[in-house]
Amino acid sequence: MKTPTKRATSCLAAVLAILAATSCVWAADVGASAEVPALIPAPREIVLTGGTCAHAAKPKIERVAGIPPEGYELSVKPESVTIRASDDAGEFYARQTLEQLKDGASIPCCEIKDSPRFKWRGVMIDDVRHFLGKETVKRTIDEMARYKLNVFHWHLTDNEAWRFQVPGYPKITEKGDCYTKDDIREVVEYAAKRNIRIVPEVDFPGHFRKLSSTYPEFTCTADNPRDKGRAPMCVGNPDAVKFVEAALDTVCDLFPESKVIHIGGDECWRYGWKKCEKCKAMMKREGIADVKDLQAWITRHAVNYLAAKGCRAIGWDEMLDAKEGYLPASAMGMRWHSEGAERTARAAAAGHEIVNSHKRFCYFDYSQSLEGDNHRYFGNGRNPVTLEKAYSFDPLAELPPESQQKVVGGQCNNWTEVTYNGKDFEWKLWPRGFAMAEVLWTYPDPKKRDFADFKRRVAIHRDAMVARGINAAPVN
Ligand code: ACM
Ligand code: ZN
Repeated sequence: MKTPTKRATSCLAAVLAILAATSCVWAADVGASAEVPALIPAPREIVLTGGTCAHAAKPKIERVAGIPPEGYELSVKPESVTIRASDDAGEFYARQTLEQLKDGASIPCCEIKDSPRFKWRGVMIDDVRHFLGKETVKRTIDEMARYKLNVFHWHLTDNEAWRFQVPGYPKITEKGDCYTKDDIREVVEYAAKRNIRIVPEVDFPGHFRKLSSTYPEFTCTADNPRDKGRAPMCVGNPDAVKFVEAALDTVCDLFPESKVIHIGGDECWRYGWKKCEKCKAMMKREGIADVKDLQAWITRHAVNYLAAKGCRAIGWDEMLDAKEGYLPASAMGMRWHSEGAERTARAAAAGHEIVNSHKRFCYFDYSQSLEGDNHRYFGNGRNPVTLEKAYSFDPLAELPPESQQKVVGGQCNNWTEVTYNGKDFEWKLWPRGFAMAEVLWTYPDPKKRDFADFKRRVAIHRDAMVARGINAAPVN
């Protein structure tokens, strides 16, 4: 896929721009007929060697130890194409790059060395507030794979609904849409073929209101209807703990390859525990003085429960608010608060790996500030996350160097309170998802990022995406 301009001068300018932005190495003697391939994410190193190869050429595959995980080397010569990688993921990504290099019947000859800066390159779908369904999920997985995004975080439970059945608890899925075991297995298999790990989310002890209308004893009782609406999981009720364990058993069973399970932890209305007799009794029994530590108790229980099943837990960053050393360091944190740098640094210092989804850059339910856009957005236009803003995201910003080392990646989050269907969802994800893909794979130097060049490439890919039937928004 190439830029529409053929002029060698603009080509050279673009080469220099990309060189500055991404530390790519380009051949000095790019021929006058050569064009800059519009790749997203930009590879770490590319040298155009002149001439073209017929893209019918079947790539020769070589397994080479020492190439970083998911990385690859791609050599396109007039008579041959060779892919070198140390793992299947690297080979898969080399093939994605080859697809993007295709121009009509040929591929420009080049030598590429490429590997990701971050191992967690995520997209979250909130499939609860509005049910988007299997086809939207698969279409999203297809596009993620093309752009080397590799984690699909599937938000499956919340106040409004549960989207998968938990054996023994039929009432939670009696009303509303839900995925069957077969649906989920189909999606898991589909994602695995595209190097995408699915991280399912079971959100507790907050975001648990669905339980107050189905199994009310699993939430804290409160006389005031307003409190009831926010009632957290009743951690003092052993049956509620058993329910959560059953939900975790179910996701471990349905997503056997995930090995990382999201356990929520955000926005828990801890005040509810202060009024609940069962929770108060439990706190007394366990010597827990503060409701914050009651959340830490259920978090630690879930982290250990998952660890015994060979899985790691990840949760929204307030999940890691615990006394030093209380939570196993294997638990991972997902930053979302805009003011959360200090909390993130503390969690990293305690040994937790961090995925950064800072809401001012990564929440795609916020407006993209497009002229004439009549889709609804969270915040009604406040705090826009434009394409440029998303492209300026730096997962390492605001953190001291020792904490930066614990940042394993980032992700964009797509909440669906005011996103009504798959088309609406796609409009909000793309083209901003391209920014996420490049920031997390290439990680162009945040001080030298070249938005103009990125936007030029995005325009080309956005059009190609629309031609594939995806409802991507225009580039602003
Ligand atoms: C969140 O936005 N409540 C994680
Ligand atoms: Zn309670």
